[in-house]
Amino acid sequence: MDKLIITGGVPLKGEIRVSGAKNAALPILAATLLSDGVVTVGNIPHLHDITTTMELLGRMGVELVVDERMNIEVDSSSIKDFYAPYELVKTMRASILVLGPLVSRFGEALVSLPGGCAIGSRPVNLHIQGLSKMGADIKVEKGFIRAKAKKLKGTRLIMDLVTVTGTENLMMAATLAKGTTTIENAAREPEVVDLANCLTAMGAHIDGAGTDTILIEGVDSLNGTKYDVLPDRIETGTYLAAAAITGGHVRLKDTRPEMLKAVVEKLKEAGADITLGDTWIEINMHGDRPQAVNVRTSPYPAFPTDMQAQFTAVNVVADGTGVISETVFENRFMHVHELQRMGADIRLQGNTAVTRGVQRLTAAPVMATDLRASASLVLAGLVAAGDTAVDRIYHIDRGYESIEEKLAKLGARIRRVPG
Ligand code: EPU
Repeated sequence: MDKLIITGGVPLKGEIRVSGAKNAALPILAATLLSDGVVTVGNIPHLHDITTTMELLGRMGVELVVDERMNIEVDSSSIKDFYAPYELVKTMRASILVLGPLVSRFGEALVSLPGGCAIGSRPVNLHIQGLSKMGADIKVEKGFIRAKAKKLKGTRLIMDLVTVTGTENLMMAATLAKGTTTIENAAREPEVVDLANCLTAMGAHIDGAGTDTILIEGVDSLNGTKYDVLPDRIETGTYLAAAAITGGHVRLKDTRPEMLKAVVEKLKEAGADITLGDTWIEINMHGDRPQAVNVRTSPYPAFPTDMQAQFTAVNVVADGTGVISETVFENRFMHVHELQRMGADIRLQGNTAVTRGVQRLTAAPVMATDLRASASLVLAGLVAAGDTAVDRIYHIDRGYESIEEKLAKLGARIRRVPG
């Protein structure tokens, strides 16, 4: 297994490009199953989760053509199977996103039930409940979700809690349902809006995406289109945090700062000088140590859970005491134990981590446990004295395109070594 070796101590400087958003690309690729025509998806990041999705679609008989710029052309007219096997779903929970499109367009789906994962139990009960309410006959047996429906029916869905992929699955299913569906207490994440925009370009009738009530009027069929995925706000935030932790000066281009308001506010509180354009964002720490901040994660537009681990890393070297509360997932603090091995002073009490900043971390061999936890270990490595070896970096490759190249471009001393 590959490792990343990071020699800490260099303030990051320079400019890099932000890639397309993983969490928008995944639902959009699933949405191509709804279309009668060819859908071409652009600005796709080169990531493991994308390859897994392509394999998932390919195994169903869907034809995919990828060009050298990662535009993916998807033609689902050759589909033969409506099946998502355990071996793929267990490596990528977002595979559940094929459930809504398959049952809505083809009337059947057999999708492995994702298990718990490193950040929580993560049930998909709300995806299932929503589809049943739309008239699907759903059975959960032998670890699989088996769904059937002649034609889904529009209905009023009031979500018990805000779920991103749940909202996406039901919104996709509703595009081809008979009549109108409303999703109340819907997720407002920019990735939900991006999916809605792509579906609209395919001919769907959707109103209210980006608010907590989405209205979808079913249509008979959807057409092909060409759609570019929005920039990755979590990748953007991760490099901003990397600049903050190292006291650096970094500019990120091809992004959308307006999606990062909560993160930018916290970075300013940490002492960062931030300049924003429409498509770029610049952070300058002027060589200073960050100030500790308090963070509470919540659904968009509040502070994202996907940035919690990276801010925990910033806090452990910051000046002062910070309190980080995780409210979205029940077990998203695996990075804390690894950071402690690097000399971090963190007290974990339930879903709250209290950090007391130390002047310097010391390098240690550490292990990545999930995608964002891994990113936090890389950030810690950037400021630790000595060589930090981050193991199990396949987690990072699931969600960060060319992380070592991008960091090296900013001056970091980082290399990948085969394990
Ligand atoms: N939940 C339920 N029942 C459901 C669905 C969700 O109880 O049927 C709970 C979850 O267990 C969790 C909360 O609701 O406690 C929110 O989970 P959500 O469904 O919103 O998460 P998700 O859709 O599975 C997406 C992202 C995650 C991101 C979360 C929260 C994708 C592919 N994944 O997951 O991204 O953390 O929303 O913003 O969009 C990542 O990129 O590292 C990542 C984990």
